[in-house]
Amino acid sequence: RKSVVRITTGSQALDELLGGGIETLCITEAFGEFRSGKTQLAHTLCVSTQLPLHMHGGNGKVAYIDTEGTFRPERIVPIAERFGMDANAVLDNIIYARAYTYEHQYNLLLGLAAKMAEEPFRLLIVDSVIALFRVDFSGRGELAERQQKLAQMLSRLTKIAEEFNVAVYITNQVIADPGGGMFITDPKKPAGGHVLAHAATIRLMLRKSKGEQRVCKIFDAPNLPEGEAVFQITTGGLMD
Ligand code: GTP
Ligand code: MG
Repeated sequence: RKSVVRITTGSQALDELLGGGIETLCITEAFGEFRSGKTQLAHTLCVSTQLPLHMHGGNGKVAYIDTEGTFRPERIVPIAERFGMDANAVLDNIIYARAYTYEHQYNLLLGLAAKMAEEPFRLLIVDSVIALFRVDFSGRGELAERQQKLAQMLSRLTKIAEEFNVAVYITNQVIADPGGGMFITDPKKPAGGHVLAHAATIRLMLRKSKGEQRVCKIFDAPNLPEGEAVFQITTGGLMD
């Protein structure tokens, strides 16, 4: 039996909310409006995952699937320095791939699983898990097929989490509600419907506050008490 590893987010308040950090063996989802910190959390985890266990890291490599083209290697440098790590070594341990279609995204996962069988990975990021599905299945009447393909992708992610004792961190968008004839995004409604709700064990809702301050709320997590944590986005990554 594999034992859970919890990886620090860089913020003690957020770690405490999560019962120690982002967990291996399951999927953690973050959703929220633009600039709420989903991608910045991903960047911080890219580094903290490589910390030794006694420093609340995962002592492992990171795989990053980027569907929006928002990964910034230069952001990794100050985050690595903040944790006292060598930035080049940290960058070398991040396997990065840009996905352009949902099929491409799926195929990348197959390739990664082969890599994870050979090398010690502790984190897989998919930022965002749903963007390409919303592009590739944008037509009327395609929703059922989209949800079926999304379910396939998510079940692959769950399998990777369990097989390789990896934390899977996915980001999700909020839905655009055609309310009042205008498309208004609702920051409290994650996209992906029941399929995503079912696959993600821990669902986090992020929102903006003053300046670089952000708030994370537990949206759904069977083993965590309800609550919120306040954190800051800094050049050195997430902090209290
Ligand atoms: P979308 O992908 O657009 O939905 O947003 P997101 O939730 O992924 O937001 P993201 O994580 O990209 O957060 C962007 C915000 O992080 C910026 O608006 C800044 O406030 C903050 N940020 C990004 N880089 C830095 C940095 O180097 N220093 C500081 N202090 N803040 C930063
Ligand atoms: Mg983002």
